[in-house]
Amino acid sequence: MNKIALAGGTSGVGHAFWDALEAQQAHAYILLTRKPIDNPKAVVVDYSDVDALKSVLEAHNVTTVISAISIADESSGQAQLNLIKAADLSTKTKRFLPSEFGADYTPEHVKMIPTYAWKLQARDVLAKTRLEYSIVSNGIFLDYWGRPRVPTRLHQGRPLFLDLANKCASIPGNGDQILVLSHSVDVARHVMYMLDLPTWGETNFFVGERLTINEFAAMAEEILGKFKVSHDTTEDLIAGKVTMLPAYGPPSEPLISFFSGLHLLSTKGYFDIDAAKRESSQVSSMKSIKVKDIIEAWKE
Ligand SMILES: NC(=O)c1ccc[n+]([C@@H]2O[C@H](COP(=O)([O-])OP(=O)(O)OC[C@H]3O[C@@H](n4cnc5c(N)ncnc54)[C@H](OP(=O)(O)O)[C@@H]3O)[C@@H](O)[C@H]2O)c1
Repeated sequence: MNKIALAGGTSGVGHAFWDALEAQQAHAYILLTRKPIDNPKAVVVDYSDVDALKSVLEAHNVTTVISAISIADESSGQAQLNLIKAADLSTKTKRFLPSEFGADYTPEHVKMIPTYAWKLQARDVLAKTRLEYSIVSNGIFLDYWGRPRVPTRLHQGRPLFLDLANKCASIPGNGDQILVLSHSVDVARHVMYMLDLPTWGETNFFVGERLTINEFAAMAEEILGKFKVSHDTTEDLIAGKVTMLPAYGPPSEPLISFFSGLHLLSTKGYFDIDAAKRESSQVSSMKSIKVKDIIEAWKE
């Protein structure tokens, strides 16, 4: 029988996983957390102490660790590495799902989001353990376009390219770049589905929907009416210029640099998911939340 330890389950993507574990009631689980919370499943841990982490995993007979730790700084990146080491040492633990849940990250992504070097490092460390692991990639969370009209546990982040609330679009290049978009609720259900699989592939790509930025924009205009659409050339983006959407917040140098970088990544196809890996992934036949559902939530 599976016994799950969910790390980083108290907010964001991890909270969506906690909701799914609770809703499904199929797996016994504990929540690893750094500070006490009012829940009997919570176990307070110190991520700097590998031996103590190992003891917690063994004491609770944890077979599978799901990490949804933020990986937003050195401390959280190192915390996950220590948790992997502890899981490898634990005689009870067989499987580890690292905190990925985005693109199929490469060093190119890391240039934009330097803390994701910790994700690549976690992959390297996992490959040297005896643990079975899988890199779950789901593209960008669709939650950003639906929030606050479509409930989500994700608390930060902004919608890219299309601002449905303000009916405007900022299209990079020719707009034919493919995006993979998935809602956190579906990714959580997918992770639950994986828990019951007898074996995992090294990668597991979940695709809620795969469409171009132009297709997304056309669907939005069809459902919501005319948008104010701006186009930036690849040269503009390379020069650090980007049309800022109201949803991106008040323009500042760091934000302009961040969003021009992300828009530029899209022109290189970095928000798509490799077709071969996609096709070889183990996926359930569940119905997922679509882009159309999210756009329709913005109808008056
Ligand atoms: N594809 C996308 O669009 C997308 C969007 C958002 C996130 N993500 C990915 O999803 C994963 C989770 O991100 P998130 O935004 O959901 O995270 P988050 O809400 O910021 O944090 C999740 C949990 O991480 C734990 N944590 C934070 N700092 C820590 C530290 N120093 N040491 C140990 N634990 C720490 C906290 O748990 P406790 O306080 O309970 O210990 C927290 O509840 C990341 O891999 C992220 O890259 C992907």
